[in-house]
Amino acid sequence: MFEDLKEFAKENNVPIIKDEGLEVLLSEINANSYKSVLEIGCAIGYSSIVMAKTYGVDITTIERNSEMYNLAISNISKYNLEDKIEVVFTDALEYVPKRMYDLIFIDAAKAQNIKFFERFEPFLNDGGSIIVDNLDFHGLTEEDPSKLSKNLRSLTRKIREFIEYLKGRDDYNTIFTHKGDGMSISKKK
Ligand SMILES: C[S@@+](CC[C@H](N)C(=O)[O-])C[C@H]1O[C@@H](n2cnc3c(N)ncnc32)[C@H](O)[C@@H]1O
Repeated sequence: MFEDLKEFAKENNVPIIKDEGLEVLLSEINANSYKSVLEIGCAIGYSSIVMAKTYGVDITTIERNSEMYNLAISNISKYNLEDKIEVVFTDALEYVPKRMYDLIFIDAAKAQNIKFFERFEPFLNDGGSIIVDNLDFHGLTEEDPSKLSKNLRSLTRKIREFIEYLKGRDDYNTIFTHKGDGMSISKKK
């Protein structure tokens, strides 16, 4: 199942969550009986489709790229999930949610994680989690910055800043894992 989506993503260089990362998301949903998810960064709809098909959660997912948005709409319809997944075509930094969510999954522009976290945390239900992907950034976060291009150096610095920011958020319990591409799971105290 979902092999068509994974294959498409691979052939077209669309970054989607790794199997191990998906397991982290799914087990968090299952362990806490979460019913709703806000996803920042939809791409072709892969992670949303797997979460909705596996546990029947209601999802709002945000995508700013029109090509990705159209692919997500068509994939969601192919999997008959129109009543479970709403795709919002906008920049997440301009989006104001209309409801509260059990899980917020941040998987968009990696340099903007602090902004996304602060923008969307007011919409997290009590007992909910905020999960962020790609904190290892393919192993580059731990790489000697002098070996990286200027762009990558700036990006990995921002990811390290985000990790420190999360460690400093005493109002959350945050677990870091190297599963997938490195993820944080933050629960409000
Ligand atoms: C890593 S992909 C998402 C993968 C998807 N969650 C999955 O695992 O199947 C990141 C997506 O976030 C989108 N994105 C990046 N910054 C965004 C923003 N500020 N607002 C909305 N979408 C954004 C990109 O266009 C890209 O399609």
